[in-house]
Amino acid sequence: MNIKEIPTPAYVIDEKKLRENLQILKDIEDKSGARILLAQKAYSAYQTYPLVAQYLAGATASGLYEARLAHEEFKAKGIESENHVYEPAFKDDEMEELCNICDHIVFNSISQLEHHRSVWEKAVSEKRLSVGLRINPEYSSDDSFEIYDPCSSGSRLGIRNQDMPQTLPEGVEGLHFHNLCEQGFEPLEETFLKVEKDFHRFFPQPRIDEDYDGYVYKALGYDEEEFDDTGESIDDLEALDGAAGSVEIPSGVDEEYTITNTGSRIKWINLGGGHHITREGYDRDGLVKLISYIKEKYGLDVYLEPGEAIALEAGYLVTTIMDVVETDRMPVLILDTSAACHMPDVLEMPYRPPLMHSEQPGEMNYTYRLSSRTCLAGDIIGDYSFEDEKKIGDRLYFEDMAIYSFVKNNTFNGMPLPDLALLHEDGQVEVLKHFGYEDFKGRL
Ligand SMILES: Cc1ncc(COP(=O)(O)O)c(C=O)c1O
Repeated sequence: MNIKEIPTPAYVIDEKKLRENLQILKDIEDKSGARILLAQKAYSAYQTYPLVAQYLAGATASGLYEARLAHEEFKAKGIESENHVYEPAFKDDEMEELCNICDHIVFNSISQLEHHRSVWEKAVSEKRLSVGLRINPEYSSDDSFEIYDPCSSGSRLGIRNQDMPQTLPEGVEGLHFHNLCEQGFEPLEETFLKVEKDFHRFFPQPRIDEDYDGYVYKALGYDEEEFDDTGESIDDLEALDGAAGSVEIPSGVDEEYTITNTGSRIKWINLGGGHHITREGYDRDGLVKLISYIKEKYGLDVYLEPGEAIALEAGYLVTTIMDVVETDRMPVLILDTSAACHMPDVLEMPYRPPLMHSEQPGEMNYTYRLSSRTCLAGDIIGDYSFEDEKKIGDRLYFEDMAIYSFVKNNTFNGMPLPDLALLHEDGQVEVLKHFGYEDFKGRL
């Protein structure tokens, strides 16, 4: 069966594109030594986890169910892979199982850490588990939306520096932060440098003298003599601009690293998700340099846990036009899919999903509003124009539909869930899962 023949609505994962994304991430791992995890909240088509495992170090979960899914589909099937979990609060009856199936558990607060201590401490003492704390770096990128900004005012996500103790609580081995959404490299670089400065009391004794700036000069192949004592190149400031951006490097950074307390130090740092590493134009060399710097200077294991980047532009939502309704504004196409049910981010973000062979309204001959067969008036996907007039029975292909789509869908209005299919590299489409009435009823 090819993609033109599958029953609609259906999400179709593009295996070739998925593999290309994974290869880019593997290159970053190989060049930098980072360990990259799949954030399952964005993409959890477990049928493709064997492919994911060929490229990534493992997966991270937002709670017990995702952690169990990763355990079942990786480790229990003999696939070597790490299993991490972070959640703002864990239930008492979940902790034992999490400690049995996860390698890393990240707590959101000191009180959660202490509340569950008696359970996790046993797994840590048996060297089966490493425990971390999520910190709030108090850094928001310039274009962040409040709903997707874990560092917005009043955020419950992660511990602010002022609320962290002076020394690392016993048993804690790592720090985790996540503050970005669909970002390039620079906001990550700026976040890390802020974390390095604010939370340096938890970092191990530096193993090299260079601060980040000096390290980047060296990585670019410059001789230290070429720099005056402000650290700026006398000859070539342009190269520096491109490399280090406008990052503010803490002055007197060496003195700051003087060890002032005797507590234990972290062994790993997790830089979270929100990095659009597989997007064209992402500064991947910059990312490799930053990770190499963290590893070389502090000897830390560095984790990244992107979700979107794994399956970016690696899927479609195929739909059929069921009716064309004239209105006082423009004709509306009634589709067998729905924004509210099948692509909730369209209404939540909100955004206009890319659609194959279409343009902005008015740019091509025929403009339509694309909507759904639900009764929700606002279940509108967006306005699009096309070369040709659209007819009942025509198919449309929404793009970039592998992420935050089938993991978030619902059966509001009794809408059938789209099937989940895989477009293999030879062009054949395999239906991975068909959904029907029982899936609707089973949730009620
Ligand atoms: C803790 C954490 N890690 C990773 C991710 C994945 O982010 P993204 O899919 O934007 O890369 C998220 C997304 O919300 C998150 O909350």
